[in-house]
Amino acid sequence: MAFWKALAFGFLVVFCHASRLVDHHHHHHDKAGVHALFVFGDSIVDPGNNNNLDTIAKANHLPYGFKFKGHEASGRFCDGKLAVDLVAEHLGLPYPPPYSPNSSAATQGMNFGSATSGILNSTGMVSLQFLITSEGSILSLSTQVNLFSHVAKGLPRDLIASSIFYISTGNNDMASIEPMHTIISQFHAQLEFISNFFCSLPQRLYDLGARKFVVVGILNVGCVPATQLGDSCTELGEWMTKRFNEQLQTMLEEMRTSHQGFTPIYANAAGIMDEVMRDPAAFGMSNVHQGCCPSSSIIPFMFCYPGAFHCKDSSKYMFWDLVHPTEAFNTILVQRWYNGSTEYVSPMNIAALAAA
Ligand SMILES: *[C@@H]1O[C@H](CO)[C@@H](O)[C@H](O)[C@H]1NC(C)=O
Ligand SMILES: *[C@@H]1O[C@H](CO)[C@@H](O)[C@H](O)[C@H]1NC(C)=O
Ligand SMILES: *[C@@H]1O[C@H](CO)[C@@H](O)[C@H](O)[C@H]1NC(C)=O
Repeated sequence: MAFWKALAFGFLVVFCHASRLVDHHHHHHDKAGVHALFVFGDSIVDPGNNNNLDTIAKANHLPYGFKFKGHEASGRFCDGKLAVDLVAEHLGLPYPPPYSPNSSAATQGMNFGSATSGILNSTGMVSLQFLITSEGSILSLSTQVNLFSHVAKGLPRDLIASSIFYISTGNNDMASIEPMHTIISQFHAQLEFISNFFCSLPQRLYDLGARKFVVVGILNVGCVPATQLGDSCTELGEWMTKRFNEQLQTMLEEMRTSHQGFTPIYANAAGIMDEVMRDPAAFGMSNVHQGCCPSSSIIPFMFCYPGAFHCKDSSKYMFWDLVHPTEAFNTILVQRWYNGSTEYVSPMNIAALAAA
């Protein structure tokens, strides 16, 4: 059938048709390590940027952060450390601070992540599934890159070339695809649009001198507690995840061949999630179906509201709330991405990228 052929062959056509760019500069950066970590994305990486924005998508109240240093609700959508915090620890860097226009505060990195943002500018404006609206004041991915371009003016080019650029987004874009777009052909068009637009982001960072990228695939959006039906994943969500992540890898591969010095790695989150779900006990987990907070709820709030009760031991849960991983699961992800085999991080792990 024509459609399935299109799916198999046409779907993965290359989306980043940028002209071949040649890098005339040779950057002699310190081989000993990475000096800075710059972060872009959604609530998976937001370190508190939304705290000061006009949105209700904030995690600046307990029990968010109850495991974090000082039991502080920093704005992280987690019980403790985000995956990117753990990556910073492995690299021997401080947690990249939330955005500020001060370049001197960015010499070891900066985190531009903003909850409910997505690849598309419009993502995060309204997400009816999750009963939230962010009123458009969050930092879209496009805005995040604009803010970086200003901060970058005060940073040495060598620093930028040797830094790691960590991008974790797309979860909200998938959630915002309206049910009517889940008719396969329309979903196809929507996904193509999203992917096309996504290309422009690493492209712009590359133009600003960025070379080393960690691009995190989306979680299995069919299997997060918010979308699980009973104890089973939703097939459509799983299918969307697979398509999106394949597209992302193709895009990175294409950019690698057309942009000299562009060194991206793809960090597979959905695959690790699937592995943990198959055998939770092997990972010390007992619940991979529900969020730890709120511990019981009639209305399925995505967020863990102020003062909500949470499960006793969040380290046994894969998810902290209905969509965000626990520190325990983040630890499993980062162990594999940092120095694991190429099964879940390709073509090399973060330790190798840092040394490259
Ligand atoms: C900029 O950041 C540096 C380093 O964190 C700090 O010492 C300085 O006071 C900051 N400047 C302003 C104007 O906030
Ligand atoms: C998003 O907004 C930026 C400017 O803020 C614009 O350049 C870009 O084309 C927009 N992208 C889409 C897909 O609307
Ligand atoms: C991976 O990194 C951790 C912490 O940095 C270390 O303890 C562990 O031995 C490393 N594993 C491998 C296989 O290098």
